[in-house]
This record gives sequence, C-alpha cells and structure tokens, in this order.
Amino acid sequence: MLNVGVLVSGGGTNLQAVIDAIKDKRITTAKVSVVVSSNNKAYAIDRAKHNNIPYKIVNRKDYKDRSDFDKAILNIMKEYNIGLIVMAGFMCIVGKTLINAYHNRIINVHPSLIPAFCGDGYYGLKVHEKVIEYGVKVTGATVHFVNEITDGGPIILQKPVYIDDDYTPHQLQQKVMKEAEWIILPKAIELIGKGKVKVNGRKVVIEE
Ligand code: GRF
Repeated sequence: MLNVGVLVSGGGTNLQAVIDAIKDKRITTAKVSVVVSSNNKAYAIDRAKHNNIPYKIVNRKDYKDRSDFDKAILNIMKEYNIGLIVMAGFMCIVGKTLINAYHNRIINVHPSLIPAFCGDGYYGLKVHEKVIEYGVKVTGATVHFVNEITDGGPIILQKPVYIDDDYTPHQLQQKVMKEAEWIILPKAIELIGKGKVKVNGRKVVIEE
C-alpha cells in the first residue's frame, strides 16, 4: 500500500477528491497517511480531521529559508513513511532538498493545460482570469511530476474543459476542478500506486 502525504494550503477540494476516490475504490493502492498544511486556517485541515487523517501545520514564515522549510516537510514525510507526495492546492514553492529526496515522487495538480497558463505567478483563480482574458476556447487541468521549475515537471495526465463565452473566472475554476482536477488527480495516484507510470526524460508513459 502506497503511503501518500498530501500538501495543502486552502479549501482542500482536491484532497477531498482523493479521500472520496479511496472510499469508493477508484483508488485501491494508496492511502492518505498525513496531510501537511502551510496555512493553519485551511479548510483542508477540517477535511483531514473529519476523515481521521493525521495533519501537521508547516508555516513557511516559521523557517529562515526554503531549505529549512523543505526539511520540516521532509521530516514529516519520513515519519509517516510516505512514498508519494501530492501537492493539492499547495501555495508554497518547494526546493531541491525535498525534490531531490523525492525524485519523481512528488506530483502536483495545476488548473490549466501545461505549458499554457503556468509557471511563476499562475496559481488558483489567477490562472482562470488569464485564460478568460486571453479568450481561449479550451482549458483544463494537468497532473505532473514536480521538479525545480514551477509547473515544469514531466506531465502525467491532462483533461480538457471547453469554455462557454459567459463564464466568470470563479465559474471556470469550479468547472475545471469538477470536470478535470478531481478526476485526474485520483487517477494519477492509482496509476502510480499500480506501478503503471514510467518516466523517460520528459516523456511519461502510462502502461495499460
Ligand atoms: C485549485 O484550482 C487547484 O488547482 C489550485 O488551487 C485551487 C484550490 O485547490 N492549485 P483545493 O480546493 O485547495 O484543492
């Protein structure tokens, strides 16, 4: 059984999607063993409590630099024997201390079709504001491995979402979460748990 550590900062709807997928057996090879929040007021913490999942708070302001912040997260991951780290609405940047310790074992869900609308400054609602501003007809979500480039790691899964003309950024965010993020994040975890995800440089092959 793959022990998953989920990093959160906010509402935790992606965490909830993973919890629900475990309950209804769309995920059979993994369990959420710990939730780590960068924000002590995150509703994601309530979701962990409601599901009897251990949680920890790691506030970036409490650490003198990124390396110490990484080490605090890394210590928790080792304490819970975590095999896969899942960043789900996590708003902090992690550095090479954590990334090197978990090479190709950290995944993130991003609310666009990478390489569009991603990278530094593209997070949360801001992504959807830029998508609508640009006038694209299709957006979506991406699950990718985390490397030292923001949203730059090898892509595991993507799912498109078609945009109606009158969407507000908030309506688009809800649609992308519901029709894409909450589907491909659990699916990626299950595929990794089954050993079906093979990384070859930038290419990720999903074995059937
Ligand atoms: C989602 O759009 C997610 O893609 C982005 O942050 C938003 C909130 O995520 N990273 P969650 O509800 O906290 O999982």
